[in-house]
Amino acid sequence: MNFKIATLPGDGIGPEIVDQAIKVMKAVGEKYGHSFDFEFAPTGASAIDLVGEPYPDSTHEICMNADAVLFGAIGDPKYDNDPKAKVRPEQGLLKMRKKLGLYANIRPVATFPSLIDKSPLKNDRVEGADFVVVRELTGGIYFGDKGRSEDLTSAFDNCVYTTEEIERILKLAYEYAGKRNKRLTVVDKANVLCTSRLWREIAQKMEKDYPDIETDYMFVDNAAMQLIQWPKKFDVMVTENMFGDILSDEASVITGSLGLLPSASVGLHTSVFEPIHGSYPQAAGKNIANPVATILSAAMLLDALNLLEEGQAVRDAVNASLEANFVTEDISKEAAKSTSEVGDWIAAQVKK
Ligand code: IPM
Ligand code: MN
Repeated sequence: MNFKIATLPGDGIGPEIVDQAIKVMKAVGEKYGHSFDFEFAPTGASAIDLVGEPYPDSTHEICMNADAVLFGAIGDPKYDNDPKAKVRPEQGLLKMRKKLGLYANIRPVATFPSLIDKSPLKNDRVEGADFVVVRELTGGIYFGDKGRSEDLTSAFDNCVYTTEEIERILKLAYEYAGKRNKRLTVVDKANVLCTSRLWREIAQKMEKDYPDIETDYMFVDNAAMQLIQWPKKFDVMVTENMFGDILSDEASVITGSLGLLPSASVGLHTSVFEPIHGSYPQAAGKNIANPVATILSAAMLLDALNLLEEGQAVRDAVNASLEANFVTEDISKEAAKSTSEVGDWIAAQVKK
């Protein structure tokens, strides 16, 4: 089959790691008889430099017309300490989420047996941890009215959720839990927030439609603690945009390998697949960054195209590289292979 892949490398290490995912997808294409057309489009700081806009309309068109989007990373330190910057790379990401209707961000977190010692937590706490964070991505405080008072002495960010937004993300989370271990934890702050009370009310109604799934409810502060203390007890966690932002970063530390974790953002139009880490500007152009999170994001992309055997082949090849200790410096200082060497190794393994 032939697939169109919108390819948005973005900033920092984005281009280098996306190159490795492309290599691996081409290997999949050769082995399984598919062809992938990678259509490149600018985003983030590099798009601002090029056209003054972090998610240009031309990039959006390419995404809308593709079967899937492969995304690298965005962000450039030159914007971080400039509170007055009129356009920022991150706005591109938010605009893309909104315009593509990417209402769900899915972040699987699973420990890799060969890397168990990388976790900052004790082995027995993390061995076998395997859960998914489902984060609502186009609502809440990120997208509510925001601003400053006229005299600039106060500021506000509104948090708004509609029933429709809550229902669709819960439905997706329930379906995910149904395909996994049939447990769903709804994370909120219903003891304080009105939006959270609406989430809980709706979840309690929907619970009845999914009798084979065990639903539980947790306040976000407690969830932040439980996640680190007992990561194994979670299967699928679902939560609103900002809680999900914070919890999914926290969750990524459990495996001790930020450079290995993929994500998918799905919704109304084309889905986007990207590593959870950022643009790591200090490493840009040095050929040292870990490409595995992006390669595993490509595996999620293949799954979404219903190329399940192909997605699994990529995951198997990644596992083989970890077991062979053919890894970048973040995993092993002594072994320290380059970004492109790791990409080559995994692509060759896929073709075997
Ligand atoms: C993420 C990032 C973004 C977010 C930033 C870059 C706007 O932290 O994808 O989690 O907060 O959603
Ligand atoms: Mn984040």
